[in-house]
Amino acid sequence: MRVVIAYHSDYGNTKKMADAIAAGMRAGQTDISIDLHSAGETSLQDLLTADVIVFGTPVHMGSMAWQMKQLIDRAAKLWMEGALEGKVGGVFATGGGFGGAGGGVEQTMISLYSNFLEHGMVVIGFPKSLPAYADGGLQWGPYGRSGNHEGMPDTVSEAALAAARSYGSHLIEVAGKINT
Ligand SMILES: Cc1cc2nc3c(=O)[nH]c(=O)nc-3n(C[C@H](O)[C@H](O)[C@H](O)COP(=O)(O)O)c2cc1C
Repeated sequence: MRVVIAYHSDYGNTKKMADAIAAGMRAGQTDISIDLHSAGETSLQDLLTADVIVFGTPVHMGSMAWQMKQLIDRAAKLWMEGALEGKVGGVFATGGGFGGAGGGVEQTMISLYSNFLEHGMVVIGFPKSLPAYADGGLQWGPYGRSGNHEGMPDTVSEAALAAARSYGSHLIEVAGKINT
């Protein structure tokens, strides 16, 4: 199984979530190769050769970081060719979350999924029965709140990282079933 995790991270929180997803994917798996790349470093070839594609972004002004959108727009060529059809996709995000209601994280994650569905990919959400869902889960995928109650930058919690690991394991389990 080949996985590419493409993310943007200015201050390291989204990268921590990406690393945790990768750790969850590796747990108990031997036949797996995971490429972790920033969005800017992700090539179209990385997407083409992957069985599983995971996109992660910080929320920036209520939507994805422009670096993720740039990758999405670069990959429009693959849409023309239908080259990503049938691949498995998952998403994750971090945000300051000031106000406690997510600060735009849901529509950010949904717009990542919208792109995957446009490519004809099979998207995998985050079931509430999985470990750590209650602290870091949304049905769309894991979410880490990185802001404090004063609206200032802090760090994603261990609970959010546990949710990311849980989601990583789940993605590989489901992708394995789809690819058999
Ligand atoms: C330009 C900018 C805009 C932001 N807009 C939002 C926002 O609309 N909603 C939100 O919840 N957090 C927002 N944040 C906070 C980031 O999403 C949050 O700090 C995130 O965890 C940063 O991820 P990183 O550490 O991987 O860069 C914004 C941060 C920046 C720099």
